[in-house]
Amino acid sequence: MKVTDWELLRSEAVRAAKSAYAPYSGLHVGVAGLVDDGRVVLGCNVENASYGLGLCAECTMAGQLRLSGGGRLVAVACRSGDGELLMPCGRCRQILFELGGAECEVDTPRGILPMREVLPDAFGPEDLPS
Ligand code: THU
Repeated sequence: MKVTDWELLRSEAVRAAKSAYAPYSGLHVGVAGLVDDGRVVLGCNVENASYGLGLCAECTMAGQLRLSGGGRLVAVACRSGDGELLMPCGRCRQILFELGGAECEVDTPRGILPMREVLPDAFGPEDLPS
């Protein structure tokens, strides 16, 4: 597998944030994920007048992952439209864990960390009855 180009992922996340629909919070969020086949998938937040129904950038990226061929996420970077590093919220960490697993790497303020450190002791598919 290719070495992760973090600068590309970060700039793609900022580019994705330009597509955000965030008239309520004003926070434009973009996320870029490297897939195990080398693709890069993007997401942006899409808010709603019914505030609680807004979609995080990671949610729309999950749809793009599936719509563009599936696969597993191996690395993820999340940025605001201004280029500020943003951490995935708790719900989105669970979504990333589902689609990338414990070893998927995330760009964090503490450096590149695997999901097993970003979401320790995660609930996952293996906790379900077989
Ligand atoms: N947001 C994301 O897109 N991803 C996150 O992980 C955290 C929050 C969005 C949701 C909302 O549109 C805006 O940021 C402010 O909370």
